[in-house]
Amino acid sequence: MLLIKGGKVVNADETFQADVFIEDGVIKAIGHDLVCPRETRVINADGLLVMPGGIDAHVHMQMPIFDSATVDDFYTGTRAALAGGTTMIIDFVVPKLGESLLAAYDRWRSWADGKVCCDYSLHVAITWWSDVVREEMGVLTKERGVNSFKTFMAYKGYLMLNDPELYAVFSRCKELGALAMVHAENGNFIEEKSKELLEMGIVGPEGHLMSRPEEIEGEATNRAVTLGGLINCPVYIVHVMSRSAADVIVQGLKRGVVVYGEPIGASLALTGHHCYHADWRHAAAYIMSPPIREDPSTPAYLMDLLACNLLHTTGSDHCACSVSQKARGYSNFTQMPNGVTGVEERMSIVWQKGVRTGKLTPNRFVEVTSTTNAKIFNVYPRKGRVSVGSDADLVLWDPSMVRVLSAKTHQTRVEINVFEGIECHGGPKYVIAGGKVVVDPEGLHVTAGAGRFVPNDCFSDFVYNRIEEREKLKVTKGVERSPPPKTA
Ligand code: URP
Ligand code: ZN
Ligand code: ZN
Ligand code: ZN
Repeated sequence: MLLIKGGKVVNADETFQADVFIEDGVIKAIGHDLVCPRETRVINADGLLVMPGGIDAHVHMQMPIFDSATVDDFYTGTRAALAGGTTMIIDFVVPKLGESLLAAYDRWRSWADGKVCCDYSLHVAITWWSDVVREEMGVLTKERGVNSFKTFMAYKGYLMLNDPELYAVFSRCKELGALAMVHAENGNFIEEKSKELLEMGIVGPEGHLMSRPEEIEGEATNRAVTLGGLINCPVYIVHVMSRSAADVIVQGLKRGVVVYGEPIGASLALTGHHCYHADWRHAAAYIMSPPIREDPSTPAYLMDLLACNLLHTTGSDHCACSVSQKARGYSNFTQMPNGVTGVEERMSIVWQKGVRTGKLTPNRFVEVTSTTNAKIFNVYPRKGRVSVGSDADLVLWDPSMVRVLSAKTHQTRVEINVFEGIECHGGPKYVIAGGKVVVDPEGLHVTAGAGRFVPNDCFSDFVYNRIEEREKLKVTKGVERSPPPKTA
């Protein structure tokens, strides 16, 4: 039993001074002068903001890459998440070409269940298409707690779907009440441009950036948003990295498309100039897809859109590749595993670049780091809200904390921290996951396997209400005609 005393509760839609009593992993009471059993641990939250723990809906722990896996597994990855104030992650099952979705899902569960230190859910990527895939999408939604499927418009030859396949996946998502998540880049362009650059002798990390200009992120985002609108399927654009992609999402919203845009820690804080660094290790650490953009106005622009709900939520795309894993692409950038980290830094980055710049209120901070994800993935108000009956997944945020992000102090297993040197004002003083204090001023107190798998039901009202109403209004009918006159 735990009593959080003297803090200010901050939800997406309200702020008030109150104590919070927790028992058996659940918030049991919120108010003043709460009567608690004698053995209750009391946390003094004077000066702290009591917020729902972060929900990072975009991470890749232990993701298979070529012949190895990303270096943060579900233990070190969720430990890093908790250290940064995130109490729930959603990872991606990525089936191999031709592999059963159910078999891949079971594999991911077997990797995660014994290791996670916080609660988690799973999205499933659709990397190939067939009637079996169609059927298995149904089983995953009805029996395995999956309500979101990711498609790739890039990584030609192993993950990329073509337009008819995207059409099929979006249509199936709509039928099931699921969300279509999209990695939006034009994979055909990337392949051609990469060949050209390699022939010119450009083999280093800068070639990765040159092969993936922001226009092709915008083009693919436009295709995804257009398809989503026409099929009447909700679309979630993962890792929004550029102004071009963000502008397309804004245009889609203006046309009434149900589309969500997710910038990530890296796109809100960094620019792509690092990829030109003379030290290959440094440059390689910043390689991800779509790339971190060179245009220095991008991070602030994405934060401005996040502030006014033209972008909706934040992720990290945490995908921890070590220097030796990146070295696979030393003499050919197309062979380098892609990915940056951020599960630990996302909350502090959003606070620093959003709240400290006067763009986000603390309430909007809660919304874009937790509540909106809880609503989209249909776990609200169990998650994403400080309220009686909700899971006791909380972060006690200290607005006066000052930290400099660094590889010297981070939890992830990678050698280089892409946020190195960024000074963040505001950070998690206490983190509570499943009712247990997992971060306090003494350090981390996490337990492998303490997290639970959280099933996500389809037809989230937040996402599907408009979709269902529009579906009812749709009239698709041919013209009835009399047969043409017979010719002699
Ligand atoms: O470069 C990235 N983003 N790596 C992780 C996989 C993905 O595409 O999200
Ligand atoms: Zn992606
Ligand atoms: Zn640099
Ligand atoms: Zn990703």
